[in-house]
Amino acid sequence: MDRLTLVLGATGSTGRRVAARLGARGHPVRRASRRGDVPFDWTDRDTWRPALAGAHGLYLMAPHELPVDPAFLHEAVEQGVRRVVLLSSRGVEEMGDERLLAAEEEVRASGTDWTIVRPDWFAQNFDEGFFRPAVDAGRLAVPLGDTPQGFVDAEDIAAVAATALTAPGHEGRTYELTGPRALTFAEAFALIGAASGRELVFDGSPEGYRAQQEHLGAPAGQTEAEIAAFARVRPATTTDAVAAVTGRTPIDFADYATRVWGVVR
Ligand SMILES: NC(=O)c1ccc[n+]([C@@H]2O[C@H](COP(=O)([O-])OP(=O)(O)OC[C@H]3O[C@@H](n4cnc5c(N)ncnc54)[C@H](OP(=O)(O)O)[C@@H]3O)[C@@H](O)[C@H]2O)c1
Repeated sequence: MDRLTLVLGATGSTGRRVAARLGARGHPVRRASRRGDVPFDWTDRDTWRPALAGAHGLYLMAPHELPVDPAFLHEAVEQGVRRVVLLSSRGVEEMGDERLLAAEEEVRASGTDWTIVRPDWFAQNFDEGFFRPAVDAGRLAVPLGDTPQGFVDAEDIAAVAATALTAPGHEGRTYELTGPRALTFAEAFALIGAASGRELVFDGSPEGYRAQQEHLGAPAGQTEAEIAAFARVRPATTTDAVAAVTGRTPIDFADYATRVWGVVR
C-alpha cells in the first residue's frame, strides 16, 4: 500500500513542487502550511498532531527565519513517520548557519530513514522569493562580487526530494544540489535581463549592498553580519547530484530565465 507523505511549506517554492510531483506519481500527499490545505504552523503546536496523523513520509522544511523545532521531529517519529527529507542549504558550513546545522543534526539522530538536500541558491528567488522586488526595480546588490554560484531550479530540488521520499537507496545520504553550471550573480541577472528584454543592473560590492539594505529599512547590524557571512562564501563548483538521483540533467539558469521571464515578441 502506498503511504502518506506530509509536505511542509506546501505553498512555498520547493514544497509546492514536491507535493505536485508526489501527487502526479500517484502517491498520497498532505499539503501543509499556514495557508495550505491542512493548517500547519511552526509557532502553534496544536496544528502539529493533526498534520502528522497517519503520515509515513515527511518533507521537512522551515522558512528562513525559523528553526526546525526538535519537539516537532520527536512528535513526528512518535506518530509513525519513518522517512524524512530535510531541506537544508549548500552554504551551511561556510556561512555558519547554526539553524540548519542543528536541523541536520536532529534529523540524523532521529532514528528515521533520512535524506538531507543542500541546494545552492534557488533560481526561483528571482521571481517567487526575496529578489523579486529588486528584479522589478531593475537593480540588485548582493556582496558576492564575481564569485560564481551554483543556482539550482526548484523543480530539480523537488524532483530530488520526491525521489528520495519514494524510492529506495537514498537513506543516510546528503545531497549538494546545483544547476549544470556555476554563474556569477551578474551573469544570472543578465540572463534574466536578456530573457525579459529589460535593462537590469547588478552591483556585487558591499557598499552597494549597504545602500540597498538601508533603503529597504534593514537594521545596519544585520546588514553587516550578512556582509561578513557573504565574505565567507567560496566560488561554487557544480555537483552531479541532480542527475544522479533523477536521471536527467539539471535545468540551466538560461532555461529558467526564458521559461519564467521570456517575452513573446
Ligand atoms: N532561497 C534559497 O536560495 C535557499 C537556498 C538554500 C536553502 N534555502 C532554505 O530553504 C528554506 C525555505 O526557504 P524560503 O523560506 O525561501 O522558502 P519558501 O519557498 O518561500 O517557503 C516558505 C514556506 O514556509 C511556509 N511558512 C512560513 N511561515 C510558516 C510558519 N510559521 N509555519 C509553517 N509554515 C510556514 C510558507 O507557507 P505559509 O505562508 O502558507 O505558511 C511557505 O510555504 C529555508 O530554510 C532556507 O534557508 C533557501
